Amino acid sequence: MLCIVFLLALSAAGTAFVHPGALHTARDFERINTHIANGDEPWNTTWTLLTASSFAQSDYQPSPKAIVYRGDNGVDTENYPSLYHDTAAAYQLAIRWKVTNDTSYADAAVNVLSSWAATLTAINGTSDMFLASGLYGYQMANAAELMSDYAGWDSSNKTATATMLTNVFASMNMLFMEEHNGNDNYHYYANWDQCNLASLLAIGIFTDNQTMYDYALDYVRNGPSNGALPVFAIANYTECGETLTQGQEAGRDQGHATLDLVLLGIIAQQAYNQGDDLFATYSNEILHAAEYVGKYNVGYDVPYTLYESYEGNQTVISNSSRGDVRPGFELLSAHYGQLKGLDSSWTDAYRDMVNANSTDGVEGGGGNYATTSGGFDALGFGTLLYRLS
Ligand SMILES: *[C@@H]1O[C@H](CO)[C@@H](O)[C@H](O)[C@H]1NC(C)=O
Ligand SMILES: *[C@@H]1O[C@H](CO)[C@@H](O)[C@H](O)[C@H]1NC(C)=O
Ligand SMILES: *[C@@H]1O[C@H](CO)[C@@H](O)[C@H](O)[C@H]1NC(C)=O
Ligand SMILES: *[C@@H]1O[C@H](CO)[C@@H](O)[C@H](O)[C@H]1NC(C)=O
Ligand SMILES: *[C@@H]1O[C@H](CO)[C@@H](O)[C@H](O)[C@H]1NC(C)=O
Ligand SMILES: *[C@@H]1O[C@H](CO)[C@@H](O)[C@H](O)[C@H]1NC(C)=O
Ligand SMILES: *[C@@H]1O[C@H](CO)[C@@H](O)[C@H](O)[C@H]1NC(C)=O
Ligand SMILES: *[C@@H]1O[C@H](CO)[C@@H](O)[C@H](O)[C@H]1NC(C)=O
Ligand SMILES: *[C@@H]1O[C@H](CO)[C@@H](O)[C@H](O)[C@H]1NC(C)=O
Repeated sequence: MLCIVFLLALSAAGTAFVHPGALHTARDFERINTHIANGDEPWNTTWTLLTASSFAQSDYQPSPKAIVYRGDNGVDTENYPSLYHDTAAAYQLAIRWKVTNDTSYADAAVNVLSSWAATLTAINGTSDMFLASGLYGYQMANAAELMSDYAGWDSSNKTATATMLTNVFASMNMLFMEEHNGNDNYHYYANWDQCNLASLLAIGIFTDNQTMYDYALDYVRNGPSNGALPVFAIANYTECGETLTQGQEAGRDQGHATLDLVLLGIIAQQAYNQGDDLFATYSNEILHAAEYVGKYNVGYDVPYTLYESYEGNQTVISNSSRGDVRPGFELLSAHYGQLKGLDSSWTDAYRDMVNANSTDGVEGGGGNYATTSGGFDALGFGTLLYRLS
């Protein structure tokens, strides 16, 4: 009896998180390091690409800002590229440390994180500030999570980083999920919810905040707005014995339709590493939505159901940015096709098309795609970090 009470108390206090355990676990690095040591392809080529990145060099210097502005509000100058450059750098440096054990990369990574923790007080601009809170929140928290077991990270700097992630990013993530910037649940397209949910999961894990993590997990499963799984799926179709699911942004444009699946993959991977299988939720909804997006974006037609968006009726699937080259599907192919053995053929086809259009034929990361924000929406390097076979 005493034992049971004790265990419940432990779990309620939220001491049960796996670390590192957002996008990557210690076991993942055993696999990654073995492939690199053996010179296996395509892992070694991806590793070489990462080591050549200007964001992965030990002399990298961050440019922290007290207030980050995303969106032109006519008053403040947008300065958010420094945030997405620095988060990409912190993450890439953290990966280099995990693989090589060379503390020059660890010191550079925690310098980026600690410098932002000492400087950043708010994110502002237009409503786009809530894209910054989501996208760069999940990214910075993932870099911090990878560094969480680095003994050389001064403990007060580490605490300051956790406080900054909670007070600046997670508070905006929560505000967005609860109030949607003063709009109803169907106003903002799915990716807005999804990046803020990805951020809450990652910050919850890094800061051992079970309440935050559980809130985001429940929202993904049962939430009332566009990014939550029950609302995101607009229609199901059966083709050749396979389910294809039309996602919420199919009638908008394919740049966002593909981004949604990249973000859902990030959400599900982070939860999976804590023992919660969102990949399997609603009979593999994320796979079926990835298959739909993959098939259309590699050039095949898919069925479509009218969607009543806040901007008006979208009567046909949007061919705007069809064939968009967006990194992030390596994660989905690795989980569904390679780990679970499910049919991920269209997801794989899209991954392969993206890789064919990428440097060295593999999935790169921040710095390897567009120099504008879209090139930094994903942390990338999935061919190295997720691929199992
Ligand atoms: C990995 O790739 C690099 C760059 O192409 C090459 O120099 C190196 O020999 C490869 N590693 C192994 C173990 O084959
Ligand atoms: C990594 O470095 C730490 C600190 O120097 C050391 O304790 C550990 O054994 C190293 N691990 C590997 C795999 O080299
Ligand atoms: C905390 O981080 C800042 C920025 O990297 C660094 O200048 C400072 O030396 C760190 N403090 C300690 C005690 O390591
Ligand atoms: C952004 O700045 C405006 C104007 O200074 C302020 O009213 C608002 O509260 C700020 N928003 C956030 C989220 O900090
Ligand atoms: C944990 O997360 C919840 C929900 O976001 C927040 O209200 C609370 O302040 C956080 N706890 C700590 C210790 O930061
Ligand atoms: C699509 O199929 C999933 C899995 O069976 C189900 O949970 C969901 O409600 C369906 N959605 C629609 C819009 O039919
Ligand atoms: C949008 O589509 C719905 C469902 O077909 C229809 O009831 C509604 O009148 C349409 N709205 C407009 C503005 O065409
Ligand atoms: C793209 O969609 C528009 C609107 O449905 C259509 O008029 C146009 O022909 C399509 N373009 C291509 C290349 O399919
Ligand atoms: C991607 O590569 C394919 C050939 O593999 C090519 O047809 C297509 O135009 C490329 N797309 C982009 C956006 O570069």
